[in-house]
Amino acid sequence: DKGGYKHFMAKEIAEQPAVVGEAIRHYLPAGDDSVRLPGEGLDFTKVDRLTMVACGTAYYACLTAKYWFEQLARIPVEVDVASEFRYREPPIPPRTAALFVSQSGETADTLAALRYCQGKADHILSVVNVPESSIARESDLALPIHAGVEIGVASTKAFTCQLTVLLILALKAAADRGALSPEALADQIATLRGLPQLMNIALDGAEPVHRAALQLAEARDVLFLGRGLMYPLALEGALKLKEISYIHAEAYASGELKHGPIALIDPTMPVVVMAPRDGLFDKTVSNMQEVLARKGKVMLISDEDGIDEAKDGVWSAIRMPKVAPLLAPILYALPAQLLAYHTAVAKGTDVDQPRNLAKSVTVE
Ligand code: F6R
Repeated sequence: DKGGYKHFMAKEIAEQPAVVGEAIRHYLPAGDDSVRLPGEGLDFTKVDRLTMVACGTAYYACLTAKYWFEQLARIPVEVDVASEFRYREPPIPPRTAALFVSQSGETADTLAALRYCQGKADHILSVVNVPESSIARESDLALPIHAGVEIGVASTKAFTCQLTVLLILALKAAADRGALSPEALADQIATLRGLPQLMNIALDGAEPVHRAALQLAEARDVLFLGRGLMYPLALEGALKLKEISYIHAEAYASGELKHGPIALIDPTMPVVVMAPRDGLFDKTVSNMQEVLARKGKVMLISDEDGIDEAKDGVWSAIRMPKVAPLLAPILYALPAQLLAYHTAVAKGTDVDQPRNLAKSVTVE
């Protein structure tokens, strides 16, 4: 049941404030300023390093979480795509926690990577949407994301719920390891509880995304740029766009632009720049200006301060509510998804069932 929406994807995008709120309530029960994990949980004082493995969108959730675990908890993190990890057979040092992220919990490569780690990693964790899945059953600790059934082949609400659970886990790791005081943890938790409300505001103000998408639909290639936490999200934005609109899209870390991709810039190629007004904003904007100087067509996704400061010369500006920098990738996922969605609708593609793709990839 599409609940009055034209596509499951539209419904699932709209559900995100509710399901992210649900995930938050499961791990951060009201009236308490600590993180509650299922079962025995995990004591991060026993963990020296984290290896995260997944495919596709779930892999981009892992890449985002690397920034959180490293910045908040000071745990070194390695991230790999499952199909590479499993055949590389990497050494797993003692005191490693291996973490597998999968919406379906049945992705063949991710499951094989998990099985490779059994008996090698001290802890096998998973972040899954289907609690009865193989990946959940074969983990020491499975953390459900509470997104509800996801039907659209392009993952949307599972991605933001994966991010939410991974951020909560990073907060728990930081608290366990003394990297975050109880007061700082309480502050972070309070901020996170406000996220669904910001997501509602972002969805309510999404009309400019729709308008911009009508023009994006004319493009043959699109570039996404971001720095720090916005870099994995740029990768996810590019994946969403190519999956459902069949437009070729690529993402780069903004700082990599001048190392090659800047040669692609011309007036026909839209460049989507994701840049909340945070500590890295000036750096990203200076990369954006290199694009503008070569007559590139820039879509800037930022907050009010960022847009006021940097809007000169941009083709389209998408305004997000102001958000704590750590939460920005979850909030900015919404315009990235909507951009892909409206572009695909404008092109008339099969949004919920894109060609050549399956919801669950159980063969390698
Ligand atoms: C993209 C998408 C895929 C999946 C990937 C992993 O929108 O849905 O890239 O993220 O196939 O699937 P799961 O999470 O089920 O392991």
